[in-house]
Amino acid sequence: MSAQTERTFIAIKPDGVQRGLVGEIIKRFEMKGFKMVAMKMLCATKEHLEKHYEDLKKKPFFPSLIKYMSSGPVVAMVWEGLGVVKTGRVMLGETNPADSKPGTIRGDFCIDVGRNIVHGSDSVASANKEIALWFKDELVEYNSCASAWLYEAPA
Ligand code: RTP
Ligand code: MG
Repeated sequence: MSAQTERTFIAIKPDGVQRGLVGEIIKRFEMKGFKMVAMKMLCATKEHLEKHYEDLKKKPFFPSLIKYMSSGPVVAMVWEGLGVVKTGRVMLGETNPADSKPGTIRGDFCIDVGRNIVHGSDSVASANKEIALWFKDELVEYNSCASAWLYEAPA
């Protein structure tokens, strides 16, 4: 697999959906040049979310995190591109919106760590695990006509 096909899992959380920020968040990834390869809206079950955030199960905020994430629909996506895991996290900003710079998604659109509107995988390994958890044979293969304009040496 080429470095240009690195993938990350991005999810717009229930507050991002309810606040009408779906289009804005998608727009930022599109305008950057990343390629969307999967997207769906769903209400995730508590069991599914407990698996997704299993690394955090000992944290005191875990029950409220699961309640928050299961409080409404989320928009689950897979984005592809060179360095998309790391750059995606930079685009999101810090976990706490108060530490997030203006120009980042969390820096521009939210205030509270418990309502930080978007999730992004924190490593390539967790991205692969999260994509497998959220999507089953639903990734779309296609050539992007923009790749020759985004990469000096397209794959
Ligand atoms: P995410 O997984 O959602 O992209 O967030 P993250 O990597 O930036 O932060 P992580 O440590 O994985 O935490 C997951 C989510 O739990 C909530 N949280 N609350 N009250 C708190 O101190 C606290 N800390 C984390 C946030 O919604 C965070 O995004
Ligand atoms: Mg995380």
